Amino acid sequence: MKTTTNLTDPMDLAESLEALRTAALARIEGAPEMSALAEIEADTVGRESPIGEARRGLGRMPAEDRRDAGRLINSVAGEIEGAIAARREELAALERAAAIAAEGIDVTVDYVAPRVGRLHLIQQVIDEVCDIFIGLGYHIAEGPEAELAWYNFDALNTPPDHPGRLESDTMYLDYGDPADEMLLRAHTSPVQARYMEQHDPPVYIVAPGKTYRNDTVDATHLPVFYQIEGLAVDESITFSDLKGTLAEFARQFFGPTTRIRLRPHFFPFTEPSAELDVSCFNCDGGESTCRVCRGVGWLEMLGCGMVDPRVFEAVGYDPSAVTGFAFGMGVERLAMVRHGIDSIRHFIDNDVRFLEQFPG
Ligand code: DAH
Repeated sequence: MKTTTNLTDPMDLAESLEALRTAALARIEGAPEMSALAEIEADTVGRESPIGEARRGLGRMPAEDRRDAGRLINSVAGEIEGAIAARREELAALERAAAIAAEGIDVTVDYVAPRVGRLHLIQQVIDEVCDIFIGLGYHIAEGPEAELAWYNFDALNTPPDHPGRLESDTMYLDYGDPADEMLLRAHTSPVQARYMEQHDPPVYIVAPGKTYRNDTVDATHLPVFYQIEGLAVDESITFSDLKGTLAEFARQFFGPTTRIRLRPHFFPFTEPSAELDVSCFNCDGGESTCRVCRGVGWLEMLGCGMVDPRVFEAVGYDPSAVTGFAFGMGVERLAMVRHGIDSIRHFIDNDVRFLEQFPG
């Protein structure tokens, strides 16, 4: 085999073009990607390639050989270019197929649906009650669960000898010295006092949250439970405002035909105080065998009353300038009544068969 090629010699040219052609076609076929093709193109048919050189050499050829040599060069170059173009398309199709395989969705593949969580019924009820009061112009307020005895009792006009202050009833974090006793709040009412201390009237708030009492678990008691507190303070709030507001709440929460009744009661922080019952939404007070009210016709719902002037004094409000009403309700109780839940223990058992019944 010759080691040098004289491209101006037609025999040499034909031989070396044939060698170039064979090598080029093999490289093109094996080119793994676009960049390799570009390299092959430059090496074989580019300006600095043997073909480029052969074209430039045509001028130095005997005139009678030039035409055939030109044809031969063009035909080899054309074949190589055609092979490059074909391989380009092949590679592009492969790239597209790979992209589809990587990104595409196979709708025929079976899949296991992920188990979607949901809000606990307690949270659903809190959200719903808060939404109703937000619709009536109220704001949401919050306070600490670890509370000073001052806010839990004293600021709320609860005397030192009130039975709720006993260690047997309330969970204390620090007990003994009345000046800095600390406890887990026994109700959400301290949020009233904290909020009024920080804000001038008018006040329209609801305060949801966790509350604690030293109770043994049974069908209606948990030591940790939830309440929603309400407070409205303004220049001329009356008992009628209390009644109208809670009647509207009852209609929205239990149904549009719900009626309310108020029974006199006692709370240290309100005067007068009342307990509010709602008409039984199941039998509307008409059935002696009703499973919801057991024939009573009414369901005990919450405590309420007109804010005691002593509470206003404790938080620095002028009792001659403002009046107000307050109320407090148990969240578990609301849920139990509305859904006919027979034991408060279901709320903490974490049994999905119970929880699943309240998809929200
Ligand atoms: N704090 C009371 C309780 O836990 C409920 C209550 C009654 C709250 C009357 C009030 C109210 O704001 O005015 O039993």
